[in-house]
Amino acid sequence: MDRDDPSYKGQAGYTRFLLAIYDPWVLGFMARAVWRCPTPPVVERYRGLFGRRHLDVGPGTGYFLEKAAPAETEITLLDPNPNVLARAGGRLAARNPTEIQADVMKPLPVDGRYDSAALSAVLHCLRGPMDHKAIAIRNVADVLEPDGVLFGVTVLGTAERHTPQARAVLRAFNWHGDFDNLGDTAEGVRRILEDSFRTVEVDVVGSIAHFTATAPR
Ligand SMILES: C[S@@+](CC[C@H](N)C(=O)[O-])C[C@H]1O[C@@H](n2cnc3c(N)ncnc32)[C@H](O)[C@@H]1O
Repeated sequence: MDRDDPSYKGQAGYTRFLLAIYDPWVLGFMARAVWRCPTPPVVERYRGLFGRRHLDVGPGTGYFLEKAAPAETEITLLDPNPNVLARAGGRLAARNPTEIQADVMKPLPVDGRYDSAALSAVLHCLRGPMDHKAIAIRNVADVLEPDGVLFGVTVLGTAERHTPQARAVLRAFNWHGDFDNLGDTAEGVRRILEDSFRTVEVDVVGSIAHFTATAPR
């Protein structure tokens, strides 16, 4: 991805080193100690949501796909960062995933429609404000089946309830550019999902909003 692209900073941090420590550090330690949203219940939430054809936007290490996607689900991985595609693609190699190097902020270069899609811990990496992030939701909605489902989580901004440690980490990540979510709210997440989907559920656990949206408009 071009360094001048507005999406560059949100994906640039996923180096091979970060991906090597991501599961224990981010999904283990940070999820529980900083965001107060432990990972095992998120795996359980995701488990029932995968459809036959699934599009995973921003798969990271592929952890949630390995733990939660049923064996019969056909997986497409979409990410602008080649390190991510190599890591998640390698982990899931036995399932023969399709890999697409692309930015969710642009129309998605995919074949056909999907029964499910995930934006798991991706919205907080996209450039704000929320109305700008709505482009990503629209792009995913456009490649789902009429009864398709979009699910995921996102770290919320400073207007929501956080511990002092979470606030400090939020500010540091926003200063560095890995996150751009200081203005993100649970209500804002609901609003941008409702712009593109008929049925939307959003609930907050610790610093994180969980969402499920079905029936794209
Ligand atoms: C915090 S990781 C989330 C990994 C995984 N989904 C999870 O829940 O643990 C964010 C992921 O979003 C990807 N990402 C960031 N900006 C993106 C963009 N504009 N389009 C698609 N993916 C993006 C990153 O490369 C990375 O794979």
